Amino acid sequence: MNARITVTSHNTPDNVMTNVDLEKLVDTSDEWIQSRTGIVQRHIVSDDEASSDISTRIAKSLIKKRGISPDQLDLIIVGTVTPDHFTPSTAALVQKNIGASNAWGFDLSAACSGFIYGLETGANFISSGKYNKVMVIGVDTMTSILDYQDRDTCVIFGDGGGGVILEPSNKKSGIVDSILRMDGSGGEYLIVPGGGSRIPSTEASVNSRQHYIKQDGKTVFKYAVKGMAEVSKKLLDRNNLSGDDIALFIPHQANKRIIDASAERCGISPDKVLINIDRYGNTTAGTIPIALNEAVSENQINDGDYVLLAAFGAGFTWGSMLIKWDSKWVK
Ligand code: ACO
Repeated sequence: MNARITVTSHNTPDNVMTNVDLEKLVDTSDEWIQSRTGIVQRHIVSDDEASSDISTRIAKSLIKKRGISPDQLDLIIVGTVTPDHFTPSTAALVQKNIGASNAWGFDLSAACSGFIYGLETGANFISSGKYNKVMVIGVDTMTSILDYQDRDTCVIFGDGGGGVILEPSNKKSGIVDSILRMDGSGGEYLIVPGGGSRIPSTEASVNSRQHYIKQDGKTVFKYAVKGMAEVSKKLLDRNNLSGDDIALFIPHQANKRIIDASAERCGISPDKVLINIDRYGNTTAGTIPIALNEAVSENQINDGDYVLLAAFGAGFTWGSMLIKWDSKWVK
């Protein structure tokens, strides 16, 4: 039994921060950011907004669009590295906020691969035959861990997320194959050092800015291109497909140059690559579901189309997923 996506949605905070706004906060320029990353603007939360607020709006929209009641949900998975709290989970907050009285759930920490990891996890719950409706959300409030004194990093990220509901498919459509990977030896290159059990929050840890995300951008760049291209190519090969057979490639939106290089290595022509990093920046677990919902809303995907997802993120974590699109809802 395959799992298929029966509804998509996304949400971003109302506030927009442009590159020109960032010029006032840090020594950077609109020209540098656009030419090195492809980003023009990003959405950022207001002071009283957190990941569960964005997730709850996504969850309510998914339920409304699908025409179900919240108690029909079996499971809620939220991919995020910026939960409201260590505990309770963001999934539990969403469950409460939407009144999903029959659902259990959990948060999944895989950084930019969080949504693909969540889809894989949710799909296997569907395949077990025990679960019929699994909500998978990818969301991040990256501004909560950004250091606006670190210009290499703070210009890249934004806040937002998206989600889907997975349901069983008795046809050979839906999520047809995936390859997921992890290499913990890359952990030091993209890390939030403080605030956990290794460096608990103290006045000293906060003063030394340990609670912000830190990265070695060049190393991450290199591994991201290699990782996304390798697994995507392997996934295509083992399904006897080439880049030409893919109707839409939806890569994680980290940097336009990473996206272009990955697509080229997979033999996917630029017109089949979804790029929206210019409007959202890197929303970590949010990028793929935001892009997927935009593609669905703009009728860029038709029944029978092959859609290829690819992600790379902290951990290192990465993966690729092949979907044969089937939009008809399970009755
Ligand atoms: N504004 C202006 N100048 C800057 C900025 C900035 N915001 N940031 C760095 N620079 C300067 C550097 O100081 C350097 O100056 P120098 O030559 O005088 O030393 C120059 O620009 C070039 O810096 P590089 O680090 O070589 O720039 P690069 O082209 O590698 O771009 C970037 C940096 C954007 C971080 C890139 O390496 C990148 O995107 N890496 C991937 C990181 C990433 O995606 N992380 C997100 C999480 S993981 C993921 O999503 C895959």
